[in-house]
Amino acid sequence: MSQLNKFKRYTITSALPYANGPLHIGHLAGAYLPADIFVRYLRLKKKEVVYICGSDEHGAAITIKAKKENTTPQAIIDKYHNQIKSSFEEFGIAFDIYHRTSSAIHHDLSQEFFLNLYEKDEFIEKFSEQYYDEDYQQFLADRYIVGTCPNCHNENAYGDQCERCGSSLNPTDLINPISTLSGKPPVLRPTKHWYLPLDKYQPWLEQWIDEKEGSWKVNVFGQCKSWLKSGLQPRSMTRDLDWGIDVPLEEAKGKKLYVWMDAPIGYISATKQWAIDKGKDWKLYWKKQEKEADDACLIHFIGKDNIVFHCIIFPAILHAHGEYILPQNVPANEFLNLEGDKLSTSRNHAVWLHEYLKEFPGKQDELRYVLTSILPETSDSEFTWKDYQARVNNELVAILGNFVNRVMILMHKFYDGKIENGSAQIKLTDGYLNDELGIFYDSLESNLETYRFRQALQSVMDIARLGNRYLTEKEPWKTIKTDPADAKDALHNCLFIIGHLAVCLQPFLPATAKKIFGMLNWPVNDITFDSGIVFANGHRLNPSSLLFEKVEDEIIEKQIQKLHDKKQETAAVEETPITPAKENIDYESFAKMDIRTGTILTAEKVAKTKKLLKLTIDTGIDQRTVVSGIAEFYESEAIIGQKVSILVNLEPREIKGIISQGMILMAEDTAGKLSFVSPVDDLHNGSVVR
Ligand code: 2FM
Ligand code: ZN
Repeated sequence: MSQLNKFKRYTITSALPYANGPLHIGHLAGAYLPADIFVRYLRLKKKEVVYICGSDEHGAAITIKAKKENTTPQAIIDKYHNQIKSSFEEFGIAFDIYHRTSSAIHHDLSQEFFLNLYEKDEFIEKFSEQYYDEDYQQFLADRYIVGTCPNCHNENAYGDQCERCGSSLNPTDLINPISTLSGKPPVLRPTKHWYLPLDKYQPWLEQWIDEKEGSWKVNVFGQCKSWLKSGLQPRSMTRDLDWGIDVPLEEAKGKKLYVWMDAPIGYISATKQWAIDKGKDWKLYWKKQEKEADDACLIHFIGKDNIVFHCIIFPAILHAHGEYILPQNVPANEFLNLEGDKLSTSRNHAVWLHEYLKEFPGKQDELRYVLTSILPETSDSEFTWKDYQARVNNELVAILGNFVNRVMILMHKFYDGKIENGSAQIKLTDGYLNDELGIFYDSLESNLETYRFRQALQSVMDIARLGNRYLTEKEPWKTIKTDPADAKDALHNCLFIIGHLAVCLQPFLPATAKKIFGMLNWPVNDITFDSGIVFANGHRLNPSSLLFEKVEDEIIEKQIQKLHDKKQETAAVEETPITPAKENIDYESFAKMDIRTGTILTAEKVAKTKKLLKLTIDTGIDQRTVVSGIAEFYESEAIIGQKVSILVNLEPREIKGIISQGMILMAEDTAGKLSFVSPVDDLHNGSVVR
C-alpha cells in the first residue's frame, strides 16, 4: 500500500559533490543512483517533485586540490564542475538542476541564513586558541589538519570529522595534530569565531530524532543516537580561510563561512534558481506551509560520511532559522569497495565514470544495473569486475534480454510484428499471470518506498523470470502448428509482460526501458506506473534488436589489469606523510656523535632472526662487529665491500648474544624501506661525517 499520498510534493536532494575530482562508481552507488531511481519512480506516480544537486565548491577540499595541481581554486571548480555534470548526465541522473555553490544566488542566501541566526542571537561569539601553521601563516581547520581521532583512534582523522567512525570533531579534539600544509605540529593562536550552540539544541534534536525510529534506516538512526548520547558541542560556523563565502559582518572581515554551513543551503539556493528558470515557487518546496499537511516531503540522499551534517547540523540550522521544513528521511548508504579494497581517489583505486563511459560506450544501463544490485544499503558492499560480468551475462543477457528477444522474434516471424485477434482491444488473458504481476508490483512499490532498491530491482527481474517460465511452458513455436490460437494468445500475453517490464524498468534502466518502448511502438511519455496496458487491435511492433551484449572475458581481464597497474603506479608516487620534524637540538648535542665512513668486510645472518645481520666493519680506526637490522633488505653476500656511515661512539650493546659496537646509518622511506647512507666519493675509511 503506497505511502506516497501523504505528501503533495517532494524535495529530493543528492549530496553536492566537491568539485575537486572526477566521479567514480562509489559516488554513483552512494547518493545518486538510489535518489535517481526514487525520483523517477515518484515522477511515474505523477508526484510533484524537484530533484536537486550541484557542485560543492568551497572549503579545504578545493583549496588543497588547487595547491596540489599548482593552480587556483577557481580553475579547479570550473574544470571538475563541468566534468562531473556531464558524467551525471551521461548516466541519466535526472536532476532538475545541477547548480553551483559559487553562484551569486547561493552566496546571497548563505549570508542571509547566517545573518538571520546572528540577528536572533543564536551564535556564541568566542575568542579561542586555534591551531596555526607558522610556516604557511594560516589557521588550520577541517582538512588542513589531521591527527588521531579521540573516539576510534584513526590516525588520519580530519579537523572537522573522522571519516572512519563518522564523529564530528573540532581540531582541538585531535590527538597529535599535524598541519597538512607543512607536515609539522601546529601552534595555538587566538582568533574569534561564531559557534552554533548544538548543545542548546540537543533536547530538541533528541526529540526530533526519536520520532524517526522505525522510519529511518537503522544505521542512520543509530549513528544519530550515539552522537546525541556523547553530548553535542558548539560548532564554529566560520573559518579563517581565503576561499569561500564572506562572513557578512564588518568585524569578521577576511573570514569565511564554514563549508558545511553553506553547502546544505546549496540545496535551497539551487531550488531557487530552478524556480526562477521554470517559473515555480521555490518556497513550496522548502518553507513550512500554513497547514502542516501542505509541507513538502524533504529527503536527503547521502553517503554515510555525511550523516552528522544532514541529521544534526543542518536540521539544527533550519530549526534555528524557523521557517524551513526538516528532512523526513535521510536514507544514507554505506560505502562501496572495489576488488577487495577501499575505493580511493588519492590511490587511484577506482572505476572512474568518465573512463567507463569511454571504454563501455552505450553501456550505462549495465553499470546502473550492477550497481543497483549491490548498493551498500545496509552495510558496505563490493564491486568486482567478475561480478559485473556475471550479472550482465547471467541476468541482463540471459534473463531479461533473452525473454524480450525471443518474444519479439516470434511475433515478427509468425505475425509480421502485428498484434491482432479481432477484438478492439487486446488485454492480458491469463489470470495467473495477472495475479503474479500484481504481487511483483506490490513488492516493487513497497521496496522502492522504503529505500530498498536492491530488492526492488529483484522484483522487476522476477517479472522477466516469470515471462521466461511462461514462454517455456506455452511453447508457442510448437503450438503454432497444433493450436495456433493458443500460440498467438501466449505471445500476446508475453507482450504484456514485456510492457510491464518496460514500465517497471524505467526508474532503474531508463535507456533500456526506452528501447523496449521503441520496439513495442509505444509513445514513452504516455506511460506511467499506473497507466495499465492495452494494445489496439492491429498494433504494429517495430523491428527488434538485442537489448544487451555478453561481456567477454578479455574485457574483464583488461579492467582488472588496469586496476592493478594503476595501483602499482600510484604506490610508486604515492604521497605518504613524511615523518614530522623532531624538536631542535643545539650544536653540542649533534657534535657529540662520532660518525665515520667505513666498509663492510663480512656479513652473515644472525641465527634464528629474520632481520639481523652480523657485520664486520672497517671503521678506519679499527675493525669491529656491528649487528644491523637490514636482513630483510639486503643479502649478506651482496653487501661485502659496501661503503657505509657508522656511528662509532654509540655505547656497545648486546644483541642476540653478540656485542654490537656502533650503528650503521640507514635512511628509511615512508614505506619502511631501508637504504645505506654512504659517501658518494671514494673516501678512505675513518673520514669524519659532520
Ligand atoms: O562529502 C562531500 O562530498 C560533500 N561535498 C557533500 C556536501 S552535501 C551538502 F550538504 F551539500
Ligand atoms: Zn574516529
